[in-house]
Amino acid sequence: MRILTPSSTLRDWDVNDVMSLLNHADNPRIAASMRDAFPSPYTRDDAKRFIRMATSGSPNLFLAIDLDGEAVGGIGIHPLEDVYHGSAEIGYWLSESCWGQGIVTDAIRSLVPVAFEEFEIVRLQAGIFSNNPASMRVLEKCGFRKEAVHKNAITKHGILLDEVMYVHFG
Ligand SMILES: CC(C)(COP(=O)(O)OP(=O)(O)OC[C@H]1O[C@@H](n2cnc3c(N)ncnc32)[C@H](O)[C@@H]1OP(=O)(O)O)[C@@H](O)C(=O)NCCC(=O)NCCS
Repeated sequence: MRILTPSSTLRDWDVNDVMSLLNHADNPRIAASMRDAFPSPYTRDDAKRFIRMATSGSPNLFLAIDLDGEAVGGIGIHPLEDVYHGSAEIGYWLSESCWGQGIVTDAIRSLVPVAFEEFEIVRLQAGIFSNNPASMRVLEKCGFRKEAVHKNAITKHGILLDEVMYVHFG
C-alpha cells in the first residue's frame, strides 16, 4: 500500500528499513507514550522482528511514515477481535527530529478513510495516555472525538495514568 499525504508517504515496511528504525525509534521519549511492546532501547533484533511481523500478512496494517525515502515513523491499524470486531485501533509514532511539523496529523487524516474502506469497521479508536497532550491534539485536529476517560487504566514505567479514549466513526 502507498498513500501520499501532504507531508509524507505512507508505505509498506521493507527489510531495508532496519537502520531507519535504529536511527528514529530508539528513543525513550517515544517509548514513554507507547505500549510496552514498543521497546526501549530499540535494538537491531527488535527492528528485524518488527519488520518481519509488519511484512508477514497479519490482520494488522503497518505502514512506515516515509520522508525522502527514509522511514521516520510508523502508523498502523489494528482490528479488534471477538465482539469488538467492528472496531479497530490506530497507533502511530514519529521520530523526535520531525515533531511539530504536522506530519502525523497529515498521516492520520489520510489513513482514516482508507481504514474504513479496508476493514469492516464502524469505529476507529485510540487510547491515549493522559500525559500525552500532543497526541490528543493531533486526534482532535483529525476529527476524532474524546469519548471517555478510563481512570488509572494505564501503568507505564510504574506510574498510574488515565487512558483518554478518542474515537472516529468514519
Ligand atoms: C504525538 C506525535 C505522534 C505527534 O506527531 P507530530 O507530527 O509532531 O504532530 P503534529 O505536528 O501533526 O501536531 C502536534 C500538535 O500537538 C501540539 N502539541 C505539541 N506538544 C503539545 C503539548 N505539550 N500540549 C499541547 N499540545 C501540544 C502541537 O502544537 C500541534 O498542534 P497545533 O497544530 O494545533 O499547533 C509525536 O510527538 C510522537 O511520535 N510522540 C511519541 C509517540 C506517541 O506519543 N505516539 C502516540 C501514542 S498514542
